[in-house]
Amino acid sequence: MPRVLSGIQPSGQLTLGNYIGALQNFVKLQQTHECFFMVVDLHAITVPQEPAALREQTESVAALFVAAGIDPSKASVFAQSHVPAHAELGWLMTTLSSIGELERMTQFKDKSTGKESVGAGLFVYPALMAADILVYNADLVPVGDDQKQHLELTRDLAQRFNARFGEYFTIPEPYIPKVGARIMSLDDASKKMSKSNPNPASFIALLDPPDVIRKKISRATTDSGREVLFNPAEKPEVSNLMTIYTHCADISLSEIEARYEGQGYGAFKKDLAEHVVAKLEPLQTRYAEIRSSGAIHDILKQGADQVSSIANQTVRDVKERMGFILPR
Ligand code: TYM
Repeated sequence: MPRVLSGIQPSGQLTLGNYIGALQNFVKLQQTHECFFMVVDLHAITVPQEPAALREQTESVAALFVAAGIDPSKASVFAQSHVPAHAELGWLMTTLSSIGELERMTQFKDKSTGKESVGAGLFVYPALMAADILVYNADLVPVGDDQKQHLELTRDLAQRFNARFGEYFTIPEPYIPKVGARIMSLDDASKKMSKSNPNPASFIALLDPPDVIRKKISRATTDSGREVLFNPAEKPEVSNLMTIYTHCADISLSEIEARYEGQGYGAFKKDLAEHVVAKLEPLQTRYAEIRSSGAIHDILKQGADQVSSIANQTVRDVKERMGFILPR
């Protein structure tokens, strides 16, 4: 069975972008693939985190995985820091990376431009992400569009290792949705929807209460026209809302166009809000149940127990190939 690996950072509230771009595919893939899904807490600390907030967010993201439909008896759900092999292979991958290729990463450029001081962790972040994937020899990595470049680096590092030390790593393939790989901000369709945006009106959080969702959608930026048409180049705001609609209501973009022909944006936005609420309400109910049950710690432990031996074996194999003396 092909193996799937992906992760989400516990840094702020998860958004509808995370759901449509990634989480929803995690849920789908668990039916047909061996799946490993992790909360990437080691990645989150590449920018400063309050310890209490990091703890809370890590539990919250793990609970959201399960609330969204990941079944811990089918897929392994774990915290990255519970499997120390990630950090160890991360170092080995860092030594295979060049400063030039890390500098070319657009996420690094976005997060570092204009900052007086930039953490070194932010710079070597993609080498750790490569390790996350390669430590399980994953075949497929479900992600949104913004992670594509990191995946390409992962493939390059795997090929570089294989060329220098002998064929070992599987070259992983990205799994990116055709529509919805890049959900944009509600207030500015030139920026991706992001949990780290300081303006909460720019994103829909998975845990936003229904009235907040309705308000955010009614205030979402549109254009001065009135046609509900999918045309990302000419109508980026409306196309973005249509992308959210198609995922939440499970109808096609052309059906949406037909449904709102001649009706303007009002009815479209009102219905969209109800579809988003209907999609998120059951997830929010399950989330509350999981959090209050306290089950998340057991789920994370079970997940780490399931994947650790694979990750540890990879690190041993890699070290041996690189010339380390293994402890006897
Ligand atoms: P992160 O935590 O920023 O985002 C988690 C996932 O959500 C996707 N995503 C989006 N998709 C569509 N529209 C959006 N607006 C949007 N915003 C976020 C991201 O593409 C991602 O798939 N580096 C990764 C975490 C990571 C990882 C890994 C992923 C660490 N190790 C190994 C895969 C495999 C990140 O920061 O994602």
